[in-house]
Amino acid sequence: MTVPLVIVGCGGHGREVLTIASAVNAAALLPRWQVLGFVDDRPNEVNLKRVQRHDVPYLGGVSWFSGAPADTHHVIGIGDPRVRRAVAERIDRYGIPAASLVHPNATLGSDLRHGPGLVVFAGARVTTNVTLGRHVHLNQNCTVGHDCELADHVSVNPLAAISGDCRLEEGVLVGTTAAVLQGLRVGRDSTVGAGACVVRDVPASVVVKGVPAR
Ligand SMILES: CC(C)(COP(=O)(O)OP(=O)(O)OC[C@H]1O[C@@H](n2cnc3c(N)ncnc32)[C@H](O)[C@@H]1OP(=O)(O)O)[C@@H](O)C(=O)NCCC(=O)NCCS
Repeated sequence: MTVPLVIVGCGGHGREVLTIASAVNAAALLPRWQVLGFVDDRPNEVNLKRVQRHDVPYLGGVSWFSGAPADTHHVIGIGDPRVRRAVAERIDRYGIPAASLVHPNATLGSDLRHGPGLVVFAGARVTTNVTLGRHVHLNQNCTVGHDCELADHVSVNPLAAISGDCRLEEGVLVGTTAAVLQGLRVGRDSTVGAGACVVRDVPASVVVKGVPAR
C-alpha cells in the first residue's frame, strides 16, 4: 500500500522527517510513503535550497491542502510543540489525516497507544505501557520508560531520558540530554532545558533548567 504524504515544514526537523519516510521505504515497511513534497507558509531561501537537494518539491503554503489529492496524509516536521499545535489546528480544518512515522531503527515496546502524527526518530526507545498523544515527537536516541503518558504535541529532544511513570502534559518540550526522574509530572506548555535533571514536579508554562532543574 502506497500513501501520499506531505511534510509540513522545510526546516531541519522537516527534512529529518523526510529521512524517516525514506528509511521506512528502504526497509520495505508498509505503508510505503509517496512524498509529494513540502508545505511551509514562510520557507527561507536556505531551507528551500536544501529541500531541492532531496529532489522533493516545495508545494506552497498550508492552503495547498485545500486542493490535495485524495488520501493525502500529512506529517508535521516542526520541532517546537507550540508551533506544531497551531499548525496542526490549521491543517485539521482541511480534513487531511495525520500520518505516524517510526524509523525502523527505533524500538516501540509492548502495550503502546498513540494518536495520529506520531514521529519517532532513529534510536528512540519506548518501553511498555506508554500512551502518546497526537503529534508527539520522539527525537533521536531519547528514551521513554514504562507507564509514561505524553500528551498531545509533546517533544522529547535527542538523548533525553523520560523515566518510568512520568506524565508530560500537552505542549511540553524536554531539551536534549535532559532527564525527568521517575513518577514526575511536567505541566502543560513547560520547557525542560537541555541537560536539566528534573527531580520534582514542574508546574505549567515555566522553563526549568540545570541540575537539579529549577
Ligand atoms: C532552557 C532554554 C529553553 C532557555 O532558553 P532561553 O530562555 O531563550 O534562555 P537564554 O538563551 O536567553 O539564556 C538565559 C540564561 O539561561 C542559561 N541557559 C540557557 N539554556 C540553559 C540550559 N539548558 N541549562 C542551563 N542554563 C541555560 C543561559 O546561559 C543564560 O544564563 P545567564 O542569564 O546567566 O547568561 C534553552 O536554552 C534550552 O535548553 N532549550 C532546549 C534546546 C534543545 O533541546 N535543543 C535541541 C534541539 S534538537
